[in-house]
Amino acid sequence: CGIVGYVGERNSLDVLMGGLRRLEYRGYDSAGVAIVDDDGVMETAKRAGKLKVLADELEANPLHRGGTGIGHTRWATHGGPTDGNAHPHLGDEGRLALIHNGIIENFSELKAELLAEGHTFESETDTEVAAVLLGREYQSTGDLRAAFRNTVSRLDGAFTLLAVHRSEPGVVVGARRNSPLVIGLGDGENFLGSDVAAFVEYTKRALAIGQDQIVAITADEVVVTDFYGQPVEVEPFDVAWDASAAEKGGWSSFMRKEVSEQPEAVAKTLLGRVVDDQVVIPELESFGDDELRGIRRITVIACGTASYAGMVAKYAIEQWARVPVEIELSHEFRYREPVLDDHTLVVSISQSGETMDTLMAVKYAREQGARTISICNTQGATIPRESDAVVYTHAGPEVAVASTKAFVAQIAALYLFGLHLARVRGTLSAEEIAVQLHELQAVPEKLELVLAESEKVAQLAHWMADTRSVLFLGRHVGYPIALEGALKLKELAYIHAEGFAAGELKHGPIALIEPGQPVFVVVPSPRGSATLHPKVVSNIQEIRARGARVIAIAEAGDAAVLPFADEVLRIPLAAPLFEPLLAVVPLQIFAMELSQAKGLDVDQPRNLAKSVTVE
Ligand code: G6P
Repeated sequence: CGIVGYVGERNSLDVLMGGLRRLEYRGYDSAGVAIVDDDGVMETAKRAGKLKVLADELEANPLHRGGTGIGHTRWATHGGPTDGNAHPHLGDEGRLALIHNGIIENFSELKAELLAEGHTFESETDTEVAAVLLGREYQSTGDLRAAFRNTVSRLDGAFTLLAVHRSEPGVVVGARRNSPLVIGLGDGENFLGSDVAAFVEYTKRALAIGQDQIVAITADEVVVTDFYGQPVEVEPFDVAWDASAAEKGGWSSFMRKEVSEQPEAVAKTLLGRVVDDQVVIPELESFGDDELRGIRRITVIACGTASYAGMVAKYAIEQWARVPVEIELSHEFRYREPVLDDHTLVVSISQSGETMDTLMAVKYAREQGARTISICNTQGATIPRESDAVVYTHAGPEVAVASTKAFVAQIAALYLFGLHLARVRGTLSAEEIAVQLHELQAVPEKLELVLAESEKVAQLAHWMADTRSVLFLGRHVGYPIALEGALKLKELAYIHAEGFAAGELKHGPIALIEPGQPVFVVVPSPRGSATLHPKVVSNIQEIRARGARVIAIAEAGDAAVLPFADEVLRIPLAAPLFEPLLAVVPLQIFAMELSQAKGLDVDQPRNLAKSVTVE
């Protein structure tokens, strides 16, 4: 799931291995590299397993030094994670090497064609078909760029491809369709990567190449064309991430670091966007006020944690801007016949900006005439490019597979958007908007206070290391937080967990309660939610009466929960709509600590990938 390419003066192997390490978070099960030196000697190495296995292999059997190289981490689709199926794959009788992310849908057909011509294959992968096809085209054209164009025009599906040929040292060619590829611009050297994390250590100047485009990099030149060789214009951008931001920097895990960075993630997302008590989002300029006034419905599409950020924002946007908001999982949205028109605004939420399900849903929405806004954390990613506008969250690189700081930043960005809409649509007064903005601006400081209580949550998790099932309850904005708490526990600690709307308890889930069953309850503020608070307290009594072990997440000063809860985790006072930003934190920490107590890999839980670039 990670791709790196390099041409320059450095030993490309160092750049490739460093880049692959930075992309490790994307999830993978094998890794490989191909290096070409100035004399056209090409060497490759590949291994199933973690990057460490490849690194050990390279230490035992070092490769030649070479200035041109491609590197890959693979997440198996066609063919299991074996050494042989790992990339690169070779073509042109071992003279060229190719790496690939994605799925080539018409590979069986192409393979049959190549077999009929007498070509042979060593693996079961769809990738090797592309490598052999490229070899055949090279033999007929004698030109890597032309051969590459001929090859990619024959492929269906989603792919990022990089290739090198020993007869053309100093060149890496790349192509993309529905799968990410970004170019890093250096001085006398150039880079390619699945995302900017691959090369941010060396350069912060980048180019995002578009759909169905090809790039050829040499040390001094970057040429981008379409699949037919016609030159296309690409705009460079500056990467705002700091290289050190993608390092663990003394923390025991990326997740621990990222959980602790949440105050900053929210603060940076707000930075420069609140001026004189008003929301300023220049990125939304292409949406005129008339257009925003004309919106009749907002559909939010996202997957996983991002979808829960959307659920939280639904409550706020409907309350503030009086426009109906529906939230739907991207993969469900895409394959029914959603009702969309030019008065529907589709807002996608994606940390990576590469989630294939969400990308496909955005494209579909645009085809149906809807206007689209992307909430995204990764510059140069595909979903923002495919949307009419993007509001970036500024959470910084999120490396741990389970999303934490991106989630709070997504809520912050959506709240800004909701308040912007409320102003344009005249549903809140300037004073009312100012009050909400002050609440939002107070979140980072309150998050610090929640983080200061981490130790109590950690202890709780350590006592509960043997737990087999945990339930989460919440109401209103606490409901998506219950869902997120359950998701975190599944992802990180492999514990069966479910989140419910507390009001739904009596309609089914209460049957699950038996003595000792742990239940987290997100309790709304007694001041802010005078009607809901007593209802949730009654829910707690109902489950307590049936033996549940209740862990309440409640506002500091809420005494009403004390008699009924076994444990109370406190969050600072906040207006109801802002509580989710705080209440989620103890749940993240709980899942993280439980994962650690069970000796699991917090950053890279089994079977999961950070950026799911297949449907
Ligand atoms: C994967 C990750 C989740 C994430 C989801 C959406 O499943 O494991 O942590 O919430 O994708 O990712 P996105 O990048 O679109 O926000």
